[in-house]
Amino acid sequence: MDTTNNTSYAPLPGEDPSAAVPPPTHRRPFKGFAVIFPSVIFLLSLVTLVINQGPGSPPKTVPEQPDHHHQYRPASTSSETRSFSVPRGKLEGVSAKSYPHFSEDASYNWTNAMFSWQRTAFHFQPEKNWINDPNGPLFHKGWYHLFYQYNPDSAVWGNITWGHAVSTDMIHWLYLPLAMVPDRWFDANGVWTGSATLLPDGQIIMLYTGSTNESVQVQNLAYPANLSDPLLLDWVKYEGNPILTPPSGIGSTDFRDPTTAWIGPDGKWRITIGSKFNTTGISMVYTTNDFINYELHNGVLHEVPGTGMWECVDFYPVAINGSKGLDTSVNSGRIKHVLKASLDDTKLDHYAIGTYFIENETWVPDDPTIDVGIGLRYDYGRYYASKTFYDQNKDRRILLGWVNETDTETDDLKKHWASLHTIPRTVLFDSKTGTNLLQWPVEEIEDLRLNSTEFTDVLVEAGTIVPLDIGTATQLDISVDFKIESLDTEESVNGSSGCGDGAVDRSTFGPFGILVIADESLSELTPVYFRVTNSTDGDVTTYFCADESRSSKAPEVFKQVYGGKVPVLDGETYSARVLVDHSIVESYAQGGRMVISSRVYPTEAIYGAARLFLFNNATGVNVKATLKIWRLNSAFIHPFPLDQI
Ligand SMILES: *[C@@H]1O[C@H](CO)[C@@H](O)[C@H](O)[C@H]1NC(C)=O
Ligand SMILES: *[C@@H]1O[C@H](CO)[C@@H](O)[C@H](O)[C@H]1NC(C)=O
Ligand SMILES: *[C@@H]1O[C@H](CO)[C@@H](O)[C@H](O)[C@H]1NC(C)=O
Ligand SMILES: *[C@@H]1O[C@H](CO)[C@@H](O)[C@H](O)[C@H]1NC(C)=O
Ligand SMILES: *[C@@H]1O[C@H](CO)[C@@H](O)[C@H](O)[C@H]1NC(C)=O
Ligand SMILES: *[C@@H]1O[C@H](CO)[C@@H](O)[C@H](O)[C@H]1NC(C)=O
Ligand SMILES: *[C@@H]1O[C@H](CO)[C@@H](O)[C@H](O)[C@H]1NC(C)=O
Ligand SMILES: *[C@@H]1O[C@H](CO)[C@@H](O)[C@H](O)[C@H]1NC(C)=O
Ligand SMILES: *[C@@H]1O[C@H](CO)[C@@H](O)[C@H](O)[C@H]1NC(C)=O
Ligand SMILES: *[C@@H]1O[C@H](CO)[C@@H](O)[C@H](O)[C@H]1NC(C)=O
Ligand SMILES: *[C@@H]1O[C@H](CO)[C@@H](O)[C@H](O)[C@H]1NC(C)=O
Ligand SMILES: *[C@@H]1O[C@H](CO)[C@@H](O)[C@H](O)[C@H]1NC(C)=O
Repeated sequence: MDTTNNTSYAPLPGEDPSAAVPPPTHRRPFKGFAVIFPSVIFLLSLVTLVINQGPGSPPKTVPEQPDHHHQYRPASTSSETRSFSVPRGKLEGVSAKSYPHFSEDASYNWTNAMFSWQRTAFHFQPEKNWINDPNGPLFHKGWYHLFYQYNPDSAVWGNITWGHAVSTDMIHWLYLPLAMVPDRWFDANGVWTGSATLLPDGQIIMLYTGSTNESVQVQNLAYPANLSDPLLLDWVKYEGNPILTPPSGIGSTDFRDPTTAWIGPDGKWRITIGSKFNTTGISMVYTTNDFINYELHNGVLHEVPGTGMWECVDFYPVAINGSKGLDTSVNSGRIKHVLKASLDDTKLDHYAIGTYFIENETWVPDDPTIDVGIGLRYDYGRYYASKTFYDQNKDRRILLGWVNETDTETDDLKKHWASLHTIPRTVLFDSKTGTNLLQWPVEEIEDLRLNSTEFTDVLVEAGTIVPLDIGTATQLDISVDFKIESLDTEESVNGSSGCGDGAVDRSTFGPFGILVIADESLSELTPVYFRVTNSTDGDVTTYFCADESRSSKAPEVFKQVYGGKVPVLDGETYSARVLVDHSIVESYAQGGRMVISSRVYPTEAIYGAARLFLFNNATGVNVKATLKIWRLNSAFIHPFPLDQI
């Protein structure tokens, strides 16, 4: 960056003056003040005015000059071959988007057929290139809209634009032209993550983070050019952008990912944005009447020391005893509020359940020992940068999330694609435990079900493996229940706990489960399993785990044993639902109390050679398994036939 350049920004305290920060008009001290703005009454009609009159130039859905949006690219992203010391994204002020710790020399000799097999059949991925966070999901005029962080140029992170797709069921997506490209100074370095808010009068507000021409993180406003267009093809960036710049005391690259807004009884809208103070993760609250002028609330919605930068904060109500989702603004009745942060330091999505006090804009966790970032996670596997939205079409709250590749960047470039999104999940409060959420694949995925096979009370003795004859096992929806039959054994309780070192780590009450994406000779296999531990004082704890360690013979693939504790209540069996889709395995335990997404890159267990097995590596119990297994169709995700409308 040219440090001699005079900018319209004032420097942040303790920062390089060239690290540009907000213009004085937007600048408000964040801590230790109590400025009450003269109560300016901006009615929502002002938004109507702004939006209907659409100030300034119309949006460029696809830039007229294809290369226009590349003109501000910093040199650091200009090449695909780079030094392996700094991960992609770091220099640009966003969390690491590559993992330069593998020696590329040891790479497996992949064939094109192996690479092709890895592409998923019913998970959302772009036709090619890099994808990360889901953005601004919404339902409008019969269509679910998905926007996403996308690199139109390559299978690695960079040149971030908003990709766009629609579907009527969140499974059969249709690709649309790019929604927003980095073509303005306030997002020249990337059109980063954002959220949609649907206003009561039908308008759509899109707030997103732009990385400016000087790599400052600012918040911008955009809106559809034509609300009558069900496909929302054209987006207008507000001429007065940015509408928010980092407040005093907040680093210029620590200010991103505005949430969906919610409205209070005072008629004001609120949004929250994640950041950090030193190593304390925080979420700030802004109020607004018109989505153009904002007031920073004095004090944070919540903070947790030691959790670092909070990205992609999400904040929403859940019904304590309901089967429906709630609109983001609902704040009465028997509800709780979920606060979620994506932890930049660990690349994990953590949530906590608590109470929101709108009177002072704070949120308090039910249980401080499992506060945001130190307790529950949405997904105990590979999963990040998730976002929910309220689906007014079916009265449900839907969770979308990003799952990255765990092979090498070099191989991603050979495949010409990287990363995908999970199957959208409905989110409910678990009224049985009262301590966690329940996540479940949207019911629409059941439309992909083809033929099925049922197995009832299959005995799997301690230390055995039972093949399940269902043919090719690369696209499956598996529902399985296990019952434990204690053996009359003198053996004292084996102390092994947690997921151990994977399924090879035997103990009295586990592991038992299924082996997915396994070849006949079990030279490659991915166990998804339960392990029960019984302490001498009779405390029974159940772990749900997925073990990637033998999933591929390729040495360079990142492999891990994932998992954690899952509540199993009296009278419940050990139950799991597992979605297998080539290189991704999504596993749900106990009706969605715990979820694990794994990535697998087998070399043998592919195409017709992929099989499914039951296994029981417990030393002290037999198990009986009851299963229903569906073969799943592909979603045949393809471009929207725009020429046919
Ligand atoms: C890949 O193939 C090359 C050339 O055939 C060979 O030298 C190398 O050892 C192989 N690598 C692995 C991991 O098998
Ligand atoms: C970004 O776009 C430029 C211009 O098309 C291209 O040269 C560069 O490789 C791209 N960077 C990445 C990381 O895709
Ligand atoms: C960034 O854009 C602003 C607004 O157009 C301009 O004033 C500034 O000079 C630009 N900075 C650089 C480094 O180009
Ligand atoms: C807005 O979209 C509707 C529905 O697609 C279309 O009929 C109309 O012509 C569009 N209006 C403009 C100004 O493009
Ligand atoms: C951050 O750390 C510095 C040095 O330890 C300290 O002086 C400062 O008060 C801290 N800032 C905040 C907001 O906690
Ligand atoms: C916010 O209000 C609630 C309820 O009145 C209260 O319990 C809490 O202590 C308040 N928090 C702060 C930070 O003032
Ligand atoms: C992506 O995968 C790598 C393993 O290759 C992991 O270390 C990293 O944290 C992952 N990133 C995210 C955002 O999940
Ligand atoms: C939910 O409702 C059921 C039936 O009315 C009741 O037994 C249960 O305790 C309720 N759960 C919570 C968390 O209130
Ligand atoms: C589906 O049908 C095929 C062909 O008849 C059969 O081989 C396969 O086992 C069936 N799959 C399931 C899950 O039932
Ligand atoms: C658990 O049992 C296995 C098999 O009997 C044994 O190899 C292992 O050492 C035991 N672990 C502990 C912690 O006792
Ligand atoms: C069960 O444990 C044994 C001993 O560690 C191991 O050799 C075997 O591969 C395990 N079985 C499975 C299915 O992981
Ligand atoms: C756990 O251990 C206690 C006491 O040692 C015993 O009463 C109980 O049946 C055991 N639970 C299971 C699930 O085996």
